[in-house]
Amino acid sequence: MGAKLPHILILGTGGTIAGRGKDYLHSSDYQAGVLPLKKLLDSLPSFQAQITYTEIANLDSVEMDFSIWKKLVEVIQNSKADAFLITHGTDTLEESAFFLDLVLDIPKPIILTCAMRPYNAIGSDGIKNLCNAISLGIYCAAHQIKGVQVLCNDYIHDSTLFKTHTHNLNAFDSKNLLGYVLDGEVLGYKLPNSTPTIPLPTSLARVDILYTYAGMEDFSCNARGIVVVGSGAGSISAPILSKLQDFQENGGVVVVSTRVSHGFVIQSRFIPSFSLSPLKARIFLALCLSNGYTPDH
Ligand code: SIN
Repeated sequence: MGAKLPHILILGTGGTIAGRGKDYLHSSDYQAGVLPLKKLLDSLPSFQAQITYTEIANLDSVEMDFSIWKKLVEVIQNSKADAFLITHGTDTLEESAFFLDLVLDIPKPIILTCAMRPYNAIGSDGIKNLCNAISLGIYCAAHQIKGVQVLCNDYIHDSTLFKTHTHNLNAFDSKNLLGYVLDGEVLGYKLPNSTPTIPLPTSLARVDILYTYAGMEDFSCNARGIVVVGSGAGSISAPILSKLQDFQENGGVVVVSTRVSHGFVIQSRFIPSFSLSPLKARIFLALCLSNGYTPDH
């Protein structure tokens, strides 16, 4: 009797991988999140796996929100599958990957994949990424590897990934590249780092991002928290600093990150974001506030 095949559950959320352009020559003029997940799966070769699927949503990932994140978490937590694969738009993929990494603590792999070109464009990358993600899921299930990972353009990233290109197929970079998939084979693999876990709240506190600029004098904000995107190592101009102090005195929480692509914010009169990008600091702060954590925790 052969070994039991790993069960891979594919969860669709839309994105360019489920996108269709006006014809095969157009890879930048298209609508994301229009093709059913089943259509993508019908294009797959056979794998040594039992593959099932559920379409959670079908949208352009700019519309991704907490309700869909929550649904993904609940489906994953309640499933007996050995590995999970999520199809996702590239535009907000780094936010979803980071969110899922923070709230999910299960001994199974969760792999997000995507495409930069719609399904019907010449040189579309969607099916290739999907195949590689399935191979990675089979590999991780066989080796009991857990954690959130992202497969795009053959590279395997962890949840530190960030989008670096608006159109190129190699659209992501990360602080901790985990490996490469070549023709279905996982090469040079290194385990993802473990991340802290924060409980999934019932709703997500509003946290806004304040992008600063030279000469900025004012802003208004109704959120419970603000992630300031400061200049340099977290500098903030005097008028904005004074408004932020008022915001904090009225119970708001302020985290300071930076506009600079490399480096850290380690010192601030507010809470420094350390290595977190503004997008990731926003998710971290929103989860902390939603769980009732205070800045003194
Ligand atoms: C999206 O993020 O849903 C559209 C763009 C993409 O997937 O590349």
